[in-house]
Amino acid sequence: MIKMENVSMTYAKDIVGISNVSLHVEKGDFVFVVGKSGSGKSTLMKLLLKELDPTSGKIYINGEFLNDATRKTLPFIRRKIGVVFQDFRLLEDRSVYENIAFAQKVIEVPAVDIKKNVLKMLSMVGLLDKYKSNPKELSGGEQQRVAIARALVNSPDILLCDEPTGNLDIVTSEEIMKLLKLANDQGTTVLVVTHNLDIVQQMNMRTITMSEGKIISDMAKGGLAYED
Ligand SMILES: Nc1ncnc2c1ncn2[C@@H]1O[C@H](COP(=O)(O)OP(=O)(O)OP(=O)(O)O)[C@@H](O)[C@H]1O
Ligand SMILES: [Mg+2]
Repeated sequence: MIKMENVSMTYAKDIVGISNVSLHVEKGDFVFVVGKSGSGKSTLMKLLLKELDPTSGKIYINGEFLNDATRKTLPFIRRKIGVVFQDFRLLEDRSVYENIAFAQKVIEVPAVDIKKNVLKMLSMVGLLDKYKSNPKELSGGEQQRVAIARALVNSPDILLCDEPTGNLDIVTSEEIMKLLKLANDQGTTVLVVTHNLDIVQQMNMRTITMSEGKIISDMAKGGLAYED
């Protein structure tokens, strides 16, 4: 599903993004990625989206060799990956409904299916009654739920989340994590970068700890190798 083999990525001026990272994530896994600021977590996520290219090493997504993906083939690999960011990144001038429908239009889903799929996702994240609202009229937690609905509407195999609860209070963060777990229970492979170690311990899932660009620990159940 996700395979990294001895992957290093160095930014300009020899700044280490990640260093010799090998990682295996199987279909249906739920994985937290934790570590201090600057330890390479976002770099890892960007490499999996091919927003960055490795300096060395190999990356496979669903068995496809990502290193060799081209402008033509990359969209087909990315189609299988949903992304959720700290800052939501919703279209401000479109309704909640349109924000989610847009993801379906991009991959040319027939109009009759779009409505059904969007309503199903809105129901899953508990926002059916807000479908006409503008993102600006929603709370941070609600906006993030829209972003999750948008990320999941195309039925991705993999969901990558970089600090999805970074801007949210603890109760809202727990709700968001429950939604990610729900997506995982339905078969989606989920990777979540977070600083929220309380939630990581509470959820008790596989946890990878990074330090200075390296994976320093990979524990099957909620084991933390650092303190914030
Ligand atoms: N665009 C960039 N140009 C140069 N160096 C960068 C760039 N982005 C990140 N870095 C550096 O790469 C290293 C890893 O950064 P990264 O953003 O992956 O860390 P992170 O673990 O996501 O941190 P945070 O928890 O603060 O988000 C850091 O030393 C950072 O300064
Ligand atoms: Mg980061």
